[in-house]
Amino acid sequence: MSALPPHRVAVIGASGYGGLQTVRLIHSHPHLCVTFLGGHGSVGSHWRELAPFLERGPDLQVAEPDPDAIAAAADLVVLSLPNGRASTLTPALLERGLRVVDLSADYRFARLEDWRQVYGHHGAVERADAGLCKEAAYGLPEFNRQAIATARLVACPGCFPTASLLALLPLLQSGLIRPEGIVIDAKTGTSGGGREARQHLLLAEAGEALAPYGVEGHRHTREMEIQATTLGRSRPIRLQFTPHLLPMVRGLLATVYGQLNPSGYSTTQLTSHLLDTYRDHPCVEVLPVGVYPSTKWVRQTNRALLSVATNPHTGQVIVMAALDNLLKGQAGQAVQCLNIMLGFPDAMGLPLDPFYP
Ligand SMILES: NC(=O)c1ccc[n+]([C@@H]2O[C@H](COP(=O)([O-])OP(=O)(O)OC[C@H]3O[C@@H](n4cnc5c(N)ncnc54)[C@H](OP(=O)(O)O)[C@@H]3O)[C@@H](O)[C@H]2O)c1
Repeated sequence: MSALPPHRVAVIGASGYGGLQTVRLIHSHPHLCVTFLGGHGSVGSHWRELAPFLERGPDLQVAEPDPDAIAAAADLVVLSLPNGRASTLTPALLERGLRVVDLSADYRFARLEDWRQVYGHHGAVERADAGLCKEAAYGLPEFNRQAIATARLVACPGCFPTASLLALLPLLQSGLIRPEGIVIDAKTGTSGGGREARQHLLLAEAGEALAPYGVEGHRHTREMEIQATTLGRSRPIRLQFTPHLLPMVRGLLATVYGQLNPSGYSTTQLTSHLLDTYRDHPCVEVLPVGVYPSTKWVRQTNRALLSVATNPHTGQVIVMAALDNLLKGQAGQAVQCLNIMLGFPDAMGLPLDPFYP
């Protein structure tokens, strides 16, 4: 066991779903420790009050996210804040030499103009950090490891883009799917909306119900189109993304439909292709032919489960991806990125086996 002191990490937004998971994961990580908790409404609360259901955790109170105080306490920062908020802190944190992993959408677009078009209405945040948008590494470890390893600023993908891109990119990169006419049909649990009270997430509204939302232009659509084009090394992608809200707490399933290019590949051949792609990636597992992923199999884990099928009658390929939106879709992916930034194995300190059932 190394005698080196653990790397000091600040978690800003510690009272939210992403923040709570991040603190829990870092607290049990062998080489990381939480040294600062930041927030807004919860300032002054002790970790024990935020998470009385957890036996262990840092002996810290939530403080205002003052960049000097954060820089005095930590070397790395995870920002788990509402969209638009991270960009008010990040420039000052980077100036002070901290490395930042952001869970919001603020740095997922290389062009600030794209962020403005999709998220510009969020709290009317004035931004002048176009250079940082360009600099940020997109935090999808399985496809952007080198950039993450050396980055000062990592922009973790959204939960829907994580599942959808893990399904889509192996086929796009090898030209096995046509870039036109791709459809992503996805389902998520209510924790995807965060811990803040919202009417549509009340049990009386979301319970015993299944409904689509954001069918025309959901904000993750643009992120997926841009990253599918860039990381997929493809002609420009335009896709239809239809998310649904399911009456469960955590879990996400994305099913991607497209046309095989050329038609004629079998399910077995495509499964072999996915197995080859993810052979060295411990946080992604490809299921055998005919076994389809369930959200139950990934609950509380940082693992994405994939499966592929073909329809010879229509020439379609169907790729399914399940993950836990709060772990591989959010906080777990942030810790996976921290691991890569610090030279540790991807899955260090991350759960990969679910508590089943
Ligand atoms: N939930 C998911 O499945 C998921 C997946 C991927 C990415 N994301 C993204 O991750 C981010 C966090 O999501 P979440 O679901 O964890 O949200 P959440 O549960 O609503 O938590 C938001 C956190 O932000 C803090 N906060 C709000 N305004 C602040 C301010 N002005 N200064 C400092 N702290 C402030 C809150 O602290 P107080 O309580 O102290 O006010 C709270 O801790 C979002 O950008 C979201 O889009 C979410």
